[in-house]
Amino acid sequence: MAKKLTTEEILKMSRANKADQSDTAPAEPAAGAAAPAEDSAPAKEPAKPAAAPKGAADIMAAIRAKGAGGAEASSGKPEAKPAAAAAPKSPADIMAAIRGKGAGAAPAAAKPAAKKATAEASAGNLPPVGEMLAQLKAGKKPAAVEAPAKPTLKLPTRPAPKVAPQPTRRAFLLDVLLSPFALAWTVLAATTGAWVLMLARFMFPNMIVEPPTSFKIGPPSDFPLGTVSTKYTAANGIWIVHTNQYKGKDLIYVLASVCTHLGCTPSWLEGEQKFKCPCHGSGFYINGMNFEGPAPRPLERVGVALSSDGTLEVDKSVKFQEEKGQWEDAKSFVDGSIA
Ligand code: FES
Repeated sequence: MAKKLTTEEILKMSRANKADQSDTAPAEPAAGAAAPAEDSAPAKEPAKPAAAPKGAADIMAAIRAKGAGGAEASSGKPEAKPAAAAAPKSPADIMAAIRGKGAGAAPAAAKPAAKKATAEASAGNLPPVGEMLAQLKAGKKPAAVEAPAKPTLKLPTRPAPKVAPQPTRRAFLLDVLLSPFALAWTVLAATTGAWVLMLARFMFPNMIVEPPTSFKIGPPSDFPLGTVSTKYTAANGIWIVHTNQYKGKDLIYVLASVCTHLGCTPSWLEGEQKFKCPCHGSGFYINGMNFEGPAPRPLERVGVALSSDGTLEVDKSVKFQEEKGQWEDAKSFVDGSIA
């Protein structure tokens, strides 16, 4: 079995190589390196002075050579190769062996552990190596490393199905009333109503409701001498005159309130005791005779008679014109002495 080199031996060998390199004397076989060669080798060749190591690679090569030579010297058989395979091969192995010094493990055996530790340390899941060794030496169990929180897998949520809102009664009524069907019925109903109204209007044509042409105006006593009554002017278009200024006779007669010029309605001016037409200024005396303005003739009388009940009755269906001598007709006046 090849002897496992401890870390201290490896370091010693490295220091010895450095010391040999610093000496100016002809190279002598290194203490650590020559000894195994002299002891173990069958002395085929004199030991060559060890070349001065120039770097870590040289040191590692020398260490490997020492290890291999020692193994062969100790056993003298080629079966010692497995032991040589356990020798450190890289700085990582050396460091792994250094870390595993306390446990006495070979650098080769510590290689997987070192790689794992390095991987974990690089992952940031382990405390520093020194802290871990201190905990191990103190007999404590290294603090448990908190496992990284597992990322929660968020599955995409299915959107809730959209439920159409239930229409309210007002919305339903608005939809019905504003629908094209409802609008069409509304237009049809409005058109039908308009046609019915026009038909009703056609059934009642325009007509003027005039007062009757014959009517009673009251007893003669209601019309004293020298007065003009306008009581029926607005409704019936007549003046009731009781005067004695026409040929000196006391008469009660009825004048039509129509201007003989162009048909306007004159006004009775009590202060001036005349009828005055507002259209062209024609003037008429209280007896109806024209005296100013464009009126060509006197006002017209209408029929009047004393009825059986003692009241005066007017008949507008008959007219009496003074220029035609019709005022002499007994139907155009009533004796005023009975008033
Ligand atoms: Fe009366 Fe012309 S209508 S004056």
